[in-house]
Amino acid sequence: MKILVTGVAGFIGSHTAERLSELGHNVVGVDNFNDYYDVSLKLKNANAVKAKGVEVLKLDLRSVDLHSVLSKDFDYIFHYAAQPGISATSTFEDYFSNNFLATKNLVDFALQCENLKLFVNIGTSSIYGLEATFTEDVAPKPASYYGVTKLAAEQLVLQKSREQQFKACSLRLYSVIGPRERPEKMYTKLIACGLNNEAFPLYEGSDKHLRSFTYVGDIVDGVVSVIGKETITDGEIFNIGTEAEHTTQEGIEAVEEILGKNIKIVIVPKRAGDQKRTKANIDKARKLLNYNPETTLLESVKHQVNWYKENF
Ligand SMILES: NC(=O)c1ccc[n+]([C@@H]2O[C@H](COP(=O)([O-])OP(=O)(O)OC[C@H]3O[C@@H](n4cnc5c(N)ncnc54)[C@H](O)[C@@H]3O)[C@@H](O)[C@H]2O)c1
Repeated sequence: MKILVTGVAGFIGSHTAERLSELGHNVVGVDNFNDYYDVSLKLKNANAVKAKGVEVLKLDLRSVDLHSVLSKDFDYIFHYAAQPGISATSTFEDYFSNNFLATKNLVDFALQCENLKLFVNIGTSSIYGLEATFTEDVAPKPASYYGVTKLAAEQLVLQKSREQQFKACSLRLYSVIGPRERPEKMYTKLIACGLNNEAFPLYEGSDKHLRSFTYVGDIVDGVVSVIGKETITDGEIFNIGTEAEHTTQEGIEAVEEILGKNIKIVIVPKRAGDQKRTKANIDKARKLLNYNPETTLLESVKHQVNWYKENF
């Protein structure tokens, strides 16, 4: 199958492109290599992906006339490119343009791909809001520009399924961790602080937040499982993540256990829009996609620490 992966130089997109290539697919990846975080990390991810046989193109989904650059013979599109996370440095314009307008351009391109079997949008548990413990049919209450624009992007894609213009589904991912996790996110930062004897900035009160911390390999299992299942996935939303819940404090302790040392913590003001509890309800994905994530928190952290030590 010929597959387009957007956001291919990012954390989860790079793992997905590698897996798809290993499965024997012809994979083309696009990314604009923006500087939301250190571009050298994205170049490193892109090189790893290229080494697995993936073609990587530098493209900005917001500005480019995609059909004049990309061939239109894709069987699947996996859409990861986005302004992720809730960050004080990201503006409304960043979220709106990278999540909503970029998705609109990609949808317009997809409409011209005659062989397209399924457009797979990558959504997020942030669509649900401050609590994300629900089944997919519950009304979303996003509490950040990130969540609002990701919800809008999801609906843009699913709209085309409702109009029967192409088949599409959306996968809402839960707190993804593991090798290549973005540098501003919790585990990569914790590991860096632990190894460099620096204080880890903990958002006030967040030690009690509950999360479905999900290993990136388990996320990719769920994502690629939609291939060949377009009849049952068309028009559907699936939560993809682990059902196991851990507090942020337990996450800190897991890193300390693997590093074999305590990490100094400094409390910083809480972030607006930070979710209090995420617990992936994956009954639907279990039933329809045979999805069964099994990697434990400790195993995930071990993989991430090993990756960090090998790369930094
Ligand atoms: N990391 C998580 O825990 C998590 C959880 C839920 C959902 N998600 C979703 O997964 C996807 C990937 O997240 P990630 O953590 O890998 O982030 P990431 O920032 O590492 O990857 C996103 C990539 O998209 C690229 N990109 C952004 N805007 C673009 C544009 N306009 N044109 C082309 N490329 C563009 C970036 O350069 C980046 O390489 C996002 O859609 C995010 O909403 C992530």
